Amino acid sequence: MSFSLHRRALLLGLLLAGGGAFAADGPPHSAPAATMTSPAQRPGHAAIASANFQATNAGLEVLSKGGNAFDAAIAVASTLSVVEPESSGIGGGFMALLHRAADGRDVFVDARETAPAAVDSKDYLNPDGSPNRDHSLNGPLSAGIPGEPAGLVWLAQHYGKLPLKASLAPAIRLARDGFTPDARLLGAIADRQKELQRWPASAAKFLPGGQPPAAGAVWRDPAQAHTLELLAEQGDQGFYHGETAAKLVKAVQAAGGRWSAADLAAYRVKERTPISLDYRGYKIVTAPPPSSGGVAIAEILNILSGFDLDKLDQAHRVHLVVEAMRRAFRDHNDYLGDPDFVKMPLDMLLSPYYADGLRQTILPDKATPSSMLPMSTARDPGMHTTHFSIIDADGNMASITSTVNYVLGSTFVAEGTGVLLNDEMDDFALVPDKPNVYGLLGSEANAPKPGKRMLSSMSPSFVIGKERTAVIGSPGGSTIITQVLEGILAFIDGEDAGAIAAHKRFHHQYMPDEIAVEQGVFDPATADALTKMGHTLKPREAWGFMNVVTWDHRSNKLEAASDPRRPSGLGKVQ
Ligand code: GLY
Repeated sequence: MSFSLHRRALLLGLLLAGGGAFAADGPPHSAPAATMTSPAQRPGHAAIASANFQATNAGLEVLSKGGNAFDAAIAVASTLSVVEPESSGIGGGFMALLHRAADGRDVFVDARETAPAAVDSKDYLNPDGSPNRDHSLNGPLSAGIPGEPAGLVWLAQHYGKLPLKASLAPAIRLARDGFTPDARLLGAIADRQKELQRWPASAAKFLPGGQPPAAGAVWRDPAQAHTLELLAEQGDQGFYHGETAAKLVKAVQAAGGRWSAADLAAYRVKERTPISLDYRGYKIVTAPPPSSGGVAIAEILNILSGFDLDKLDQAHRVHLVVEAMRRAFRDHNDYLGDPDFVKMPLDMLLSPYYADGLRQTILPDKATPSSMLPMSTARDPGMHTTHFSIIDADGNMASITSTVNYVLGSTFVAEGTGVLLNDEMDDFALVPDKPNVYGLLGSEANAPKPGKRMLSSMSPSFVIGKERTAVIGSPGGSTIITQVLEGILAFIDGEDAGAIAAHKRFHHQYMPDEIAVEQGVFDPATADALTKMGHTLKPREAWGFMNVVTWDHRSNKLEAASDPRRPSGLGKVQ
């Protein structure tokens, strides 16, 4: 930890803890050892929940050919690349939380994109110093070096039972033979038509005859099928070197981007230790940096563990959850980034002592205005991401969130590859902030650097209990974190997979200082009570697309549920 960051952490801790319960040195990295480390038995059958029925079916097909949850994950992710390109794809990246039944190992596979070596912050500024949103969201400057292809190869080589070729087969078939795009994809293409028209290969792929594909028409992408085939045959070599790499670099450079062949050749998957903590007798396993999600979820649960939420009415329960969210989001805005580049005060942020201090600052009946907490700059990660959850017959589990960032990513397809590139560079803090009250640059930890991974909110998680286990996650930009949190709380309260996915949601992220609410989440009395406590409620329409699988160890029954807000999803038990 740099001196200034350490000093900042101390100041914040002392301020929030009132100098009382904060311990600067030696706290445990996470809460005490969990009650439950691994589900004991095997379910004997499998379940998958994903955002698209063709992807779920692809995963089940691979399971029926002798694959395990990790082979099925490759099939689901690669099929989503073809049928749900608005959310994720081989031009993007993913974060995967895996549980291997054979040895009980939990591991986090980080296939997040990286900045190219020639990244230059000035590309994302207008001449007057204001952010150039077009460069950070559209076209090749907005694209990080993709991690998903390397992640799929890694899953096959290290965790799968089948050759990569077998697990990629359903996606290759769909890209080559075609499929009927769903209404969500057609709507995404229509929404982004103006940007897609700017790049000839994007227009050729997404706007055949100058228009989005007609509803009900079969849509094919032989170029993407060929790119997937090269990956299937040659692994990393088939994407990061040779024909595909040469086409990607040529297309990006011709359109003004800064990728080089060396950037692609240098891309590496990283395995990281997940964050784990004990909450009300359950072991929560979740995403470490470069996701901010797991740190925030752990901080919120550590704060909540000191309250008896069951004894409270809904208004007071929501008030405490919101106050915990507010404090956790304040922290993650400032401290977190790529662990290979920044030192983060994780021991502090994950410490129960730190949570004790934060809890003492929460008033039982009154909202703390965010402006009264030390200042921070909020970031706004993109919304269009996808999550899928898998448990196989042996009890292997995969919780994977995958993204190209905003809807249809950068909208830039690299000529001859069928690969739609992400616009993940927007997840960096691209525009330097003004110094905050402590004289620090709030988002320094997430500033772009050559080869660095941009901070994410993706929060693939497990909730492992003696009687029940859940594999859970969601897209939704910054609301990923609070949606997964609310899913975890609902699961621990005993709700089944369908109810968890359907649960009405609320969200607070420190700034703006308001509770974003889904219609119907609070009854009028609860809404009134929250308002009287000083909270501002603001309706929000866009919520994520949760896909959850649960396992009841008493009956050995699996349940799979896809968010009912989006009809294209499918949760299926085999
Ligand atoms: N691009 C969304 C996220 O990674 O959080």
